[in-house]
Amino acid sequence: MVLNLNDAIQACWKRIDEGQVATYIPVLAKVDPYQLGVCLYNVDSGKKDCAGASNVRFAIESVSKVIALLYAIERLGLTTVEDHLSSFDQILNFTREICNDPQITLNEEIYQSELRTGDMNRSLAYYLKAKETLANDVTTSLETYFKQCSMMVTCESLANLGAVLANDGIAPWNGERLISSDAATYTKSVMMTTGLYNQSGTYSVKIGVPTKSGVGGGLVASAPKYGIGIFSPALDQAGNSVAGLALLEMISRELDLDIFKY
Ligand code: DON
Repeated sequence: MVLNLNDAIQACWKRIDEGQVATYIPVLAKVDPYQLGVCLYNVDSGKKDCAGASNVRFAIESVSKVIALLYAIERLGLTTVEDHLSSFDQILNFTREICNDPQITLNEEIYQSELRTGDMNRSLAYYLKAKETLANDVTTSLETYFKQCSMMVTCESLANLGAVLANDGIAPWNGERLISSDAATYTKSVMMTTGLYNQSGTYSVKIGVPTKSGVGGGLVASAPKYGIGIFSPALDQAGNSVAGLALLEMISRELDLDIFKY
């Protein structure tokens, strides 16, 4: 690989100062903003390149929505409107499998912090209940959601997740199909169109790679042939990792990953 990830991290490091760690979840406000890590998984060669804070554990937060969506599609299909109940343990097990990381656990302190302060989520859950689109009762749904957000992952776990999506749903580390091809395609489309909040459109033009971010500072991206996991906790106004996106933009440019250029 021509791109040197340590050099790329160095080049993007100063961007950290443009952002701030999430403060609306009190425990996340304590995270050191000066961290930047990356893991790049080449699906064809099976080679993984990691640099910087690539083994630091951080809260997956909204990146977990990619996993929850895949899990829901696998269990219910793409068209069903039927309600089913999923427990956090089932989501955790699926997360460990698709991230190839049995060390993923729930961070109880983050979970409790979200449970205490997640009034916005609570209001949305009641809204969904009123619209009759909530599968579970409000309390159970919120508990499951906050728990899934509090799972602790690394750049490597997210690179593995991205690599499964890049490899049409097949785990490149053992050749096992973990999700259907349709689930992978559908989820990458949703990531490309909505994965970076209000900046999704801007970044589909700038980077051209399906990506999902979380307020813990994580990014998962799935490019042709590559799964990418990035972590840097200082966020921009939209809630996306500033240095993380700068790094992803650089990687996309250097490795020619923009899918709209093909
Ligand atoms: O629901 C929340 O606000 C957090 N638990 C996760 C948010 C996140 O990462 C992206 N959402 N805006």
